[in-house]
Amino acid sequence: MAFTIAIDGPAAAGKGTISRAVADHFGFAHLDTGLLYRAVGARTLTGADAVEAARALVAADLDATNLRGSAVADAASKVAVIAEVRAALVDFQRAFARRSGGAVVDGRDIGTVICPDAEAKLFITASPEVRARRRFEELTERGVQTTRDAVLAEVHARDERDMSRSEAPLKAADDAVTIDTSAMTIAQAVEAAIAAVEMRMQDRP
Ligand code: DC
Repeated sequence: MAFTIAIDGPAAAGKGTISRAVADHFGFAHLDTGLLYRAVGARTLTGADAVEAARALVAADLDATNLRGSAVADAASKVAVIAEVRAALVDFQRAFARRSGGAVVDGRDIGTVICPDAEAKLFITASPEVRARRRFEELTERGVQTTRDAVLAEVHARDERDMSRSEAPLKAADDAVTIDTSAMTIAQAVEAAIAAVEMRMQDRP
């Protein structure tokens, strides 16, 4: 049985944590599509051409350990505006989404462009201030030296780039359930996400 749960939303809204928890809960496979753009972005930092890097991408390139830094995140959001880069990554994402046993696919354009027919769609969001605070705490915990203002400016810059690009901009699908996690704990947000998916499962013929 194929069942696709599409989860979109801006950076640091809790999308990754919620996606992993939802996948665990239902026993589904999980694909963080941000890693595809990060892997391509990382290749451009060492001089590769973005489109060629996207066309040559293989699963082994998605090893998350080298892809979490802010230089790679910045490079990822730059290559993500290139139509040919996005096109080169479509088939891999769609094949993953329709694998048997169910899949959670998270990103920015999953419910709108990659899997418009997904059985369940969630849009996970939170205010820029809350997202910046979470990111700041996460970075400080990892020993990264930064300031709250710098992190907030980065969040705004990335939102602006992700939402205003002409290719697959970040936006909620018309039939997505929006969950604003600004005032929620992780446990509450996960519970809300699971409940929304269960509703869609019950709606199925
Ligand atoms: O979710 P993330 O921070 O790992 O994503 C990195 C960048 O990739 C982000 O700036 C937006 C882009 N991205 C995208 O355009 N489409 C996706 N499906 C996933 C990520």
